[in-house]
Amino acid sequence: MKKLIFAVTLLLAAGAQAQNVIGNAAAGKNDVFMCEGCHNSSGYRVAFPEVYRVPMLNGQNAGYIEQALKEYRSGARNNQTMRAIASSLTDQEIADIAAFYSQPRAGGTN
Ligand code: HEC
Repeated sequence: MKKLIFAVTLLLAAGAQAQNVIGNAAAGKNDVFMCEGCHNSSGYRVAFPEVYRVPMLNGQNAGYIEQALKEYRSGARNNQTMRAIASSLTDQEIADIAAFYSQPRAGGTN
């Protein structure tokens, strides 16, 4: 059931996203310096306030990344670290970052 609700939320988000903000991967490349330290080092863990495994973002679906960041920003997803980070991002920056990470990257960061 949880999965179904999640899928529906994603569909709604994809619809809402289509309206105005268009992600620009080239712009997103300049925003992700603040993400790379935690994301995309394989197996990286953050030890505060609990131990978290940090999910990989490379190759993740753009709609999923966008939705996740908006949920952290609104508090619908509860993680202190990501909430603080997502709160500093505009809708445009979120779309840009999502576009950037959803593209295949030659080489990657590690
Ligand atoms: C200090 C470490 C840290 C930084 C910096 C950071 N994140 Fe995260 N991020 C995390 C952790 C830990 C989680 C897992 C949180 C959870 O369990 O919900 C996470 C989760 C996420 C998720 C959800 C992934 C999924 O599979 O559900 C997204 C999307 C995300 N971060 C994007 C970003 C972006 C974009 C940036 C830069 C603007 C960023 N993060 C910077 C630690 C970090």
